[in-house]
Amino acid sequence: MNNRMKTVFSALAENEAFARSAAAAFVMPLDPTVEELTEIKTAVSEAVSNSVIHGYSGWEDRSQAMVELECEINGNGRVTIIVSDHGRGIANVEKAMQPLFSTVESEERSGMGFTVMESFMDKLQVKSEEGKGTAVTMTKYLDLVSAL
Ligand SMILES: Nc1ncnc2c1ncn2[C@@H]1O[C@H](COP(=O)(O)OP(=O)(O)OP(=O)(O)O)[C@@H](O)[C@H]1O
Ligand SMILES: [Mg+2]
Repeated sequence: MNNRMKTVFSALAENEAFARSAAAAFVMPLDPTVEELTEIKTAVSEAVSNSVIHGYSGWEDRSQAMVELECEINGNGRVTIIVSDHGRGIANVEKAMQPLFSTVESEERSGMGFTVMESFMDKLQVKSEEGKGTAVTMTKYLDLVSAL
């Protein structure tokens, strides 16, 4: 079974929970383990919070700053999740993806978002252009044996 969904929402912190739950609900037919589900939810949260906090930092009208979540599943248990924004973009993606790197100096930011996404998902690809936006593509292969 192949299945696909796309949802677009304002870059507001409260929509992180919405995005996380939407992705989790969408993959449910694949019968993920509790661990797989937690990993997907956490990775989606990190990607969405990056769009909200960094992508649209300083944006005037938040309701018009949109974040898109796209999920695709296929019968082999492959889950592909794309989180994208049309915000400020990342100047140096390679640097941004390094553990502990953050452009925000605050106790709340540890610079571990990309590292978490990378370790919880099987593949992570980040495409970004300054002034245009960022797209994070994450792929995870679910263990379908448990669904049999
Ligand atoms: N969507 C985005 N738009 C613009 N910049 C981004 C985006 N996502 C990440 N970045 C940049 O990449 C850096 C690293 O992101 P990462 O998620 O690893 O750490 P963080 O968000 O700074 O801290 P943490 O995720 O641990 O709270 C950010 O500090 C920011 O500069
Ligand atoms: Mg982050």
